[in-house]
Amino acid sequence: MGRRILVTSGLPYANGHIHIGHLVEYIQTDIWVRFQKLIGNETTFICGDDTHGTTMMLRARSEGRSEEEIITEMHAAHLRDFNGFGIEFDFYGTTHSEENRQICVEIWNALKRDGLIEEHEIEQLYDTEAKTFLADRFVKGTCPSCGKRDQFGDNCECGAHYEPTDLTDAVSTITGTKPVLKKAKHLFVNIEKEHKFLDEWVHSGALQAEITNYLTGQFLSNKLRSWDVSRPAPYFGFEIPDSPDNYWYVWFDAPTGYVGSTLQWCKLTGNDFNKFWKDQSTEVHHFIGKDITYFHTLFWPTMLKVAGLTLPKKVHVHGFLTVNGEKMAKRRGTFILASTYLKYLNPDYLRYFYASKTSGRVDDLDLNFDELESKVNSDLVGNLVNIASRTVKFVQKSGLSSSYPDDGGLFKRGVEVGSEIAEAYENCDYGRAARLVMECGDRANKYIEDNAPWLISSDSGREVELRNICTIGLNLFRQMAIYLLPILPNLKVEVERLFNTKIERWEDASKPVVGVLVNQYKHLMTRVDHVLIERIIEESKQSDVVENSVKFKDSDEVLKLEPLVGEKISIDDFAKVDLRVARVIEACEVEGARKLLRLKLSFGGEESRQVFAGIKSVYKPQELIGRLVICVANLQPRQMKFGLSEGMVVAAGLGGEEIFLISPDNGAKPGMRLH
Ligand code: 2FM
Ligand code: ZN
Repeated sequence: MGRRILVTSGLPYANGHIHIGHLVEYIQTDIWVRFQKLIGNETTFICGDDTHGTTMMLRARSEGRSEEEIITEMHAAHLRDFNGFGIEFDFYGTTHSEENRQICVEIWNALKRDGLIEEHEIEQLYDTEAKTFLADRFVKGTCPSCGKRDQFGDNCECGAHYEPTDLTDAVSTITGTKPVLKKAKHLFVNIEKEHKFLDEWVHSGALQAEITNYLTGQFLSNKLRSWDVSRPAPYFGFEIPDSPDNYWYVWFDAPTGYVGSTLQWCKLTGNDFNKFWKDQSTEVHHFIGKDITYFHTLFWPTMLKVAGLTLPKKVHVHGFLTVNGEKMAKRRGTFILASTYLKYLNPDYLRYFYASKTSGRVDDLDLNFDELESKVNSDLVGNLVNIASRTVKFVQKSGLSSSYPDDGGLFKRGVEVGSEIAEAYENCDYGRAARLVMECGDRANKYIEDNAPWLISSDSGREVELRNICTIGLNLFRQMAIYLLPILPNLKVEVERLFNTKIERWEDASKPVVGVLVNQYKHLMTRVDHVLIERIIEESKQSDVVENSVKFKDSDEVLKLEPLVGEKISIDDFAKVDLRVARVIEACEVEGARKLLRLKLSFGGEESRQVFAGIKSVYKPQELIGRLVICVANLQPRQMKFGLSEGMVVAAGLGGEEIFLISPDNGAKPGMRLH
């Protein structure tokens, strides 16, 4: 009986596109899953979008649309990108599902039943402008441990974890203002009650040695701090059933998404949910980045254990991606979206390069484009593909020999190495797996070189020998290709076509193919074109521009433009209009006014204004709070019957009911002037 394995990758946030940094993990997981399936283990790969939290709420506010609409759009975009890279989930769900809510409730009830839930009033940082408590990611300041500036509110690059209130010089990243402390009731999970269990689990072999050491040194050697799992409204997520106006913190309902998505998949396919999450003999394997280790190795096992759900057999932690030795950065063109890469380069090149750099340890991985180019050119084109391209043409007519010829033990050696390669895959040491396969290739290429089929002419009377040499070469090629299938899944179809023979499983690499006709050779892979890498980098520097121009294309055609040439004004005339970025900090309906909303706009610091805007038909007041708008700040104040209007909010439209508020790009701050 094979193993039953459930595999997950970290759920990507639904508020951003997939980039090459994310792909380190998804490619790593996909390789592992494909390997497990190839050797015959019952393996299910579950993932989905991580949808909740303040970022999504603020994005929806600022884009003037619902969270659900954004979630649906991003779900499709993520799946497109993953498909492009051959990442094959059995199911890709979402944390914003009824199934996930159900799992959260189950776990919550179990935590309460076991007395792990506590209530405390806490003081938290609060943004008075945006009228929201500040999640850790929305606070930046100086690390209390190492003194490094510009660090997020929950942890520092130095590895320290702390509360946002511990930061010195904290500012809100939403409004740039200094947050104030405000009290609110929060719910906590007392994980200290499960200290003994965690100690055992952390030392159970589920973790890489460096992770076990880190957890023991940083956390388990002391009393564990209770985990704050609730957030007061406004928050986008699931309201806690017995605690109105409090929501589960996104990190509570994100990992539950692994279970919730499995449940969604089971409902769709008729699979038995209990086989996966209520059966400790099922192996659950999580693949995650090192930054989210402690959520997956302290809180998550506690939640699972208390609820009687299957504990992870392994949490595979990987490091971060650097590009050309540095952090990915848009200005260097190294913040590369998956979709940008896919326009220019074969996804298998990146899969192979990442694989060759993956060791199963927590180390960071560097993507050096020169190295990618030389690795692909030498390993895939110069070694693997070279074997097929130098032999197949000589057996196009005759087909392969009817029995496998004497190759001096090359194929057999390849079979023996197969178990070492398999072990390397199992341990996520794909670099070793790739090296072992390339060594097979070196031996095969030497054999072909030594026997030089191209020097044997078809009328020399050595046709049998020629056929045998090529049968050997092609079988060595096929053996390598099968070993590489977890990394290079696209090879499968081509190799099956070439040999007129299906590949079903790993053991097919131990059986030579003989007596079949071979199909015409198509170039499996070509050398990397350096110019294409340069294009990717150039386009990544401009990525916003490209995305926007695509987005605007359709709607441009339906507009009847007002004449573009009106009365000319001088630059000095324009300079008289003081256009400012402002943040909506209050919004409400105006009694007796059909079209108006009353807005309070902040220009940063103490400066704020009241403005009446005729946008009630299109915008709900609560959608506007927190978003940035553009305001004519030096308009003569106007006394209206409802109050004083001290400016005007700028919007686009055709003069009818359709009104579109204008917002600046990310990064603009209240008070900035438009030039
Ligand atoms: O760090 C992240 O990108 C999170 N969205 C990962 C969540 S993994 C799991 F817990 F859902
Ligand atoms: Zn620090």
